[in-house]
Formats: sequence, structure tokens, C-alpha cells
Amino acid sequence: MKYLVGIDVGTSAVKTVLFDEKLNKIRSETVEYPLYQPHNGWAEQNPNDWWSATLRSLEKATESVDRIDGIGLSGQMHGLVMLDRNGDVLRPAIIWCDQRTEKECTQITDIVGRDKLIEITANPALTGFTASKIMWVKNNEPEIYEKCRHILLPKDYIRFKLTGVFKSEASDAGGMQLLDIKNRVFSEEILKLLGIERELLPDVCESPDITGYVNIKGKFFGTPVVGGAGDNAAAAVGCGAVREKRAFTTIGTSGVVYAHTDKPVIDTKGRVHTFCCAVPGKWHVMGVTQSAGLSLKWFRENFAPELTYSEMDNMAEKVRIGAEKLLFLPYLMGERTPHLDPNARGTFIGISAIHTKAHFIRAILEGVAFSLRDCLEVLREMDISVADMSMVGGGSSPLWQQIISGTFKIPIKTPFSNEGAALGVAILAAVGIGLYSDVPSACDKIIRNSAPVFPENSAEYDKFYRIYASVYPRLKEICRELALTGK
Ligand code: XUL
Repeated sequence: MKYLVGIDVGTSAVKTVLFDEKLNKIRSETVEYPLYQPHNGWAEQNPNDWWSATLRSLEKATESVDRIDGIGLSGQMHGLVMLDRNGDVLRPAIIWCDQRTEKECTQITDIVGRDKLIEITANPALTGFTASKIMWVKNNEPEIYEKCRHILLPKDYIRFKLTGVFKSEASDAGGMQLLDIKNRVFSEEILKLLGIERELLPDVCESPDITGYVNIKGKFFGTPVVGGAGDNAAAAVGCGAVREKRAFTTIGTSGVVYAHTDKPVIDTKGRVHTFCCAVPGKWHVMGVTQSAGLSLKWFRENFAPELTYSEMDNMAEKVRIGAEKLLFLPYLMGERTPHLDPNARGTFIGISAIHTKAHFIRAILEGVAFSLRDCLEVLREMDISVADMSMVGGGSSPLWQQIISGTFKIPIKTPFSNEGAALGVAILAAVGIGLYSDVPSACDKIIRNSAPVFPENSAEYDKFYRIYASVYPRLKEICRELALTGK
């Protein structure tokens, strides 16, 4: 029997899962770590927290076996990890949801030109992406940039700690905004224009390629570690969204609507991201809502700590669609799709004296679903056909899935395994060590789904979605004024 491990370095925790060679889960272990927000809109984490959580979860998850045969790495995308010449961390990682780099985005757009940026990196300059974070460090902490010898993404830092190798793979590297997305290599032109030295960046391979071998003494020594994938591309493998017309949506801290494409398809308005996917030589398009699960978590922590998530669901289920005319815009950390606006902030509209906690919870579930519908609408506008939609990730509940299906007007199925990204990269490891011939055929053999949830009450959701979609354009200026006011 061969054993595979998938490690997913998420925003709130690392999840490590041990699988057998048929990709049945044996044991899953999650270890949490903090997120630091030193200023409004900033988000940082300590890479050493990721590493100690990885080691702890890896040791626990694999307690029952005396060796493993392959490791796949997945992780939150876009985070900036900077290391000195000894491989030591120079500053906290600036992670994907950090919004401090608006000025640097303007700087990048001015230097490169918006059209060229979209043509090469397939995306406009965005605060979430790594390039603007690197420019921020150059502009604000030049002494740190000076000492920096290696720039890595979160999961690639874990690879370095496991194997001593500096490598990345195309799906995650695309989120740095330094990759030539069509050719899957770092763009010399963009690097030159931005003054970022190529030597700072890792080599880029494809997701199932073996990148190195664990060099830590003990039972993991010598285990191959494959490229793996950014968390969304990994989740796509974990639910079989690895062919044209296949898509998934997920609610984690952020929320995503993701569609596989065989060719790079680019939104010239830049509202959705086009990145390489974990199937070698293929791509995907995805819309991102910054605060999906985060919105509900934020509400619970601050206003309903006495409730469990399932109690919150029960309360929301009793409230009718539209939450008695209470709308929620989930822009707690700015928004990407479709507004591309780091200054956007969350809003409840329509608060009345009749509203109770239950209405606020329902409004949050619906607001996040509407914001995912915004993502789907852009894909529809780009003629990306979505015939088959899965829902992945532990963040959603049956009620939330029902709301999303009603809002999207399409059936949504769920894979039986809810290991998502960790399963996806374990599949990549299985392909990498030769247990399966390629990613799509491995998915065909491994992924099984539940019966779909069919859309209900779509006309009702539509009415509220239409109003929702009209709110932010009217609030944009106010959000900007707020952002520029006070400290
Ligand atoms: C995708 C994105 C998030 C992170 C966090 O572009 O920023 O989905 O990967 O999980």
C-alpha cells in the first residue's frame, strides 16, 4: 500500500491529510494560527507559524504509518514571503487579503501599462497579488528588500523547509503577477520594468512534477514532494474540475467561482483572474469575493459568540428569502470581482427595528451568495460555459449551498470527500509518483459526488440580487472618501 499526504496551508489553519493509494482519507489534522491586522486593511502572518503547524499536523496525521510515498502542497495564494541569504524570514508574510498596496498598483500600471500587464500577466495590477506587495516593501522597507535573497509563496516556503529546494509551480506562480501566463514562465520584461531581480524568484514547474525530497531526518526523509498548486487550482483537482465546462464554487475565508479552460481566456476589464491550472498546459478563470466565510466568522465572533455555526444556520433557515429586505455587501476586506476596489467596505442596507440576529445571519449568507453570483455573471459574459458546478470546502452548509444554487440557477453537487485542496494535491502527488497517468484520468477514477442540490426560488433571489448589484456603484465614492478620511 502506498500513502500520500496533502498539506494545505490555509489562512486560518494548516490542514494535513493522509490518504491511501486509492485516495481514501485515513486521517486529517488541522492546526490553527493567528492572522495579524496591524492596520485597517493590512493582513500578515508569521511563516514560522505555518511551518510549526505543518510539522505538528504532519506528525499527527501520519501517526499510524511508518513511511509515506508522496507529498503534495497547496496553500493560500499571493502571499509574500521574503528570506535572507540564510533562508531566514525577513519580515511577516504580507498575505493575499492585505489591501495596503493601492499606490503600488498605480505605480505598476504606470510603469508597465494596463494593456501590457493584462496581455502578459492576464490580470490588471491588484492589491491582493504578490507583485504590488514586493513593490510596497521596495518603497517602504528598502533595507528589507536589500537583504532579501528569496521570494516565495506560502506553500513554497513550506516546500523549502521540507526539502531545502526553492521551487514553485505554474498555478500559484501566476498569482504573483510576474508570470507570462500564456507561456508559464516568469516574464523577463515585467521583471525588468519593475526592477525585480529574476534570481530572487524560484524556478517554476508543473503541478505534478517532483520538485524535491524531504531532507529532514526521520520517517519522512526522502519522500518526494510534488509541485502542488495554489489552493483554488488544488481544490479544482479535488472535485474533478479539470476539463472544459467544469466549474466549482467554494466558501473558505474568501469565496471563489472557478472554471477550467483549455486555452487562456482573459477578461480585458480584468474583473476575474486568469491563471494556469494544475493540469499541465491548461488554465482557469476565477472570480474572487474577498470575505465569504470570513463575513460569517466575523459576525459570529463579534456579535454571536454564543452560537455554533449550525445554530446560526437553523436561525437563518426560518427567515424568508431577502431577510425581510435586509441586504449585506460582504466587502470587509475590499473586493475583487467585480469591483476591483480595495477601498470597498461591508454594508448592511435596510436595517429595520423588526430585524433580529437571525435576519442579519440570513443577510450574510445571501450577500455572500450574491457576491459569488457577480463572479458567475462575469464568466457568463466571457462566454465560458459552465455545465457542471461543484461546491467544495468546509465553509458552506446545506442551507448556504441551497441559497447559492437558487442564486446561480444551476444544480450544485458536492464531492463525497470534503478534503478539497488537500485531496487535490494528494492526487497530484499520486500522479507525480506514477500511480496514475495524468490528472484528469486520476480524477475520473477517484472523485465521486453526492446527488446535486437543485435550484429553488430563483425568481425570488433574482429580485434581491438585482438590487444588491446596484448598491455598490452608488456607494463607491463614499467608501473612497471614508478611506481617505482620518487615520
Ligand atoms: C485567490 C485568493 C484566495 C486565496 C486564499 O486569488 O486570493 O482564494 O488563495 O485562500
